Amino acid sequence: MRLPERFYRWRNRLLTDAGFRKWAASFPLTRPIARAKAREVFDLCAGFVYSQVLYTCVALDILRIVRDAPLDVETLAARIAMPADGTDRLARAAASLKLLRRRADGRYGLGERGAALLGAPSVLDMISHHAVLYADLQDPAALLRRRSSETQLAEFWRYARGEGAKALQTGDVAAYSDLMASTQAFVAEEILDAYSFRDCRRLLDVGGGAGAFVRAAGAAAPHLHLMVFDLPAVARIAEARLAEAGFGARASCFGGDFLRDPLPEGADVMTLIRVLHDHDDDAVDVILRAARKALPQGRPLLIAEPMAETPGAEAMGEAYFGLYLWAMGAGRPRSSLELKAFLQRAGFPKVKNVATRQPLLTSLIVAT
Ligand SMILES: C[S@@+](CC[C@H](N)C(=O)[O-])C[C@H]1O[C@@H](n2cnc3c(N)ncnc32)[C@H](O)[C@@H]1O
Repeated sequence: MRLPERFYRWRNRLLTDAGFRKWAASFPLTRPIARAKAREVFDLCAGFVYSQVLYTCVALDILRIVRDAPLDVETLAARIAMPADGTDRLARAAASLKLLRRRADGRYGLGERGAALLGAPSVLDMISHHAVLYADLQDPAALLRRRSSETQLAEFWRYARGEGAKALQTGDVAAYSDLMASTQAFVAEEILDAYSFRDCRRLLDVGGGAGAFVRAAGAAAPHLHLMVFDLPAVARIAEARLAEAGFGARASCFGGDFLRDPLPEGADVMTLIRVLHDHDDDAVDVILRAARKALPQGRPLLIAEPMAETPGAEAMGEAYFGLYLWAMGAGRPRSSLELKAFLQRAGFPKVKNVATRQPLLTSLIVAT
């Protein structure tokens, strides 16, 4: 047996041994470690309940209700139309999770995490959206036994069903386009802080949604001409939003299907933001080859999305996005190393990781 395997075997025997656990929890030097490890495992067991408390606070708008002034349980109960005993139980739970903070007089105001969440409305939108994910995850084993396009997430992200995406109408794409536009602000900030578009003239955002990223890029780099490619119904939304924001003369929007149609030419930089992880491997090859064909030799393609195996955020990739995208019916989280192999196969030999401040939100790869 190899050395690492021998070590894991020895460690696992130790950790499964009740006598060792008892000793580690009693011995003064190992006690803090034993307690921290027990808490980690408890949090893993209880995570579903914590998420439900968070979801309920957001769904009932409790964070906003207590933002300006702490409220007593009776007043809060009246505001959320819930009996006082249920409200009391919820408020205590939310305070233990630092969403609320219980004052000395028993009133509840915003807690540290509640305040941070209120400052990030897009995260609140994602939390509300999680109702759909939780519904699909009711029987995870059944979901994992048979990947299906009959889930609520597949109904929400209508393009995930592949066929017929080009014929989708505004009503089919509006909800996901709004969610993406709302959550784009932080992602755009990360990308624009990490990468300068100074040497670029025409930016094409492929799968650019309602144009939120190009609006941010256009504001940061006023010389840029902005191009968005997305499904026809989404491109129409992008065109309207860009015109409303005063970018009409600097922007062109193109409707099409990047799995079947060529990408528009003329851009000297392209972005694929939160797009590749939505697609299975064969589709990723098609998208990257289309990008290679439309982009002049030596010009950059930026891939920005949350990636698997991100140090310190491994569970975000493989656990959260792994199950989310499985439930959606298409795609998977990929590591930057895997994406590099896809890029090189598609004709982008030079691939560089560019550090972002919050890899939990997005990592960034620049390929030429
Ligand atoms: C997860 S959203 C990301 C939107 C945007 N890039 C962002 O980060 O906010 C994926 C986008 O890809 C678009 N898309 C999906 N399949 C497509 C296809 N076959 N052709 C063109 N666009 C597609 C969707 O309409 C959607 O706008």
